[in-house]
Amino acid sequence: MLLHVTQVLSPEDVARCRQRLDAADWADGRITAGYQSAKAKHNLQLPDDHPAARELGALILERLQRHPTFMAGALPRRIFPPLFNCYREGQSFGFHVDNAVRYPRTGEDRSPLRTDLSATLFLSHPDDYDGGELVIEDSFGTHSVKLPAGDLILYPASSLHQVMPITRGERVASFFWIQSLVRDEGERRLLFDLDVSIQSLTQQQAEHPALVSLVGVYHNLLRRWSET
Ligand code: NI
Repeated sequence: MLLHVTQVLSPEDVARCRQRLDAADWADGRITAGYQSAKAKHNLQLPDDHPAARELGALILERLQRHPTFMAGALPRRIFPPLFNCYREGQSFGFHVDNAVRYPRTGEDRSPLRTDLSATLFLSHPDDYDGGELVIEDSFGTHSVKLPAGDLILYPASSLHQVMPITRGERVASFFWIQSLVRDEGERRLLFDLDVSIQSLTQQQAEHPALVSLVGVYHNLLRRWSET
């Protein structure tokens, strides 16, 4: 499932991020690439221990934890400290699959994290650059993603994806991975669909007696499928 999560960051948050990032010194993006993907990766990245990465990463984590769509879709157990990248004219990242396991080098918990989901949070306005689409292949076909600044796309980390070459301007984004409470993509999808339906029913018929039972089913499935 590809999930578009809108307005993770407010316009003020985006402006704050851009102010810090536009003044930062970027490094070669291959610092976090695996052996195979390093050959396909041509971009710039903020070192993960850079003060701006840590400050803005904390802001993003705080916003994510209060975003109901993100929480329902990802069911996060752990979120990798957000990283930041920049693609300038001519830069791209060819087709690859993200590493299955990541070792955080900042934050309190540095134990390995299994990457169930990948996330890209757009920090550039789409009008400010050409190219730079995130292209994701899944069992339903090929999807081209370019979102407003402050919006996020959540997709299975197992999927093949690429960032198209930039032909004008620059594309700044944050990217990170999530280890979910529910490892299986199909189970996570069912829980999300059920959650969305329950929310919708609650809006329309909050007193309906079947709602209590449906909420019970949601929690009992989550109890059955989650690992903590
Ligand atoms: Ni990737």
